[in-house]
Amino acid sequence: MLKRIHHVGVVVPRLDDAMRLWRDVLGLEFTASATIEEQGVKAALLRIGESEIELLEPLSPDNGVGRFLARRGGGLHHVCFATDDVARDLESAREKGLPLIDQKPRHGLAGMICFLHPKATRGVLVEYAQPEE
Ligand code: CO
Repeated sequence: MLKRIHHVGVVVPRLDDAMRLWRDVLGLEFTASATIEEQGVKAALLRIGESEIELLEPLSPDNGVGRFLARRGGGLHHVCFATDDVARDLESAREKGLPLIDQKPRHGLAGMICFLHPKATRGVLVEYAQPEE
């Protein structure tokens, strides 16, 4: 079952510059960062209450996040819902006929994750995440 908003994904040209805004100026609490080669991003999570902001810097202009940055100059990219069972909720989305990006969950910065296809959700890219303990 989807529980709450886990994080909102924001695409940025440079993670270091973005950290100066989100952490140093706005005061959000830095919780994690990683380079995720398979997704082609450098990412950081910053906590605000029960939710987080996920900053994404593309490693290449040729992947999805890189093309998003080139086309829109960065900005709001996706919303992620926390779930206690990402495989079950992905299966439920499939059964309801929603187009998917991921056919099965994979590792992400927020735990085990998957993405629905934005054409399923009228242009809003939706991620599910099951945080790791
Ligand atoms: Co995300």
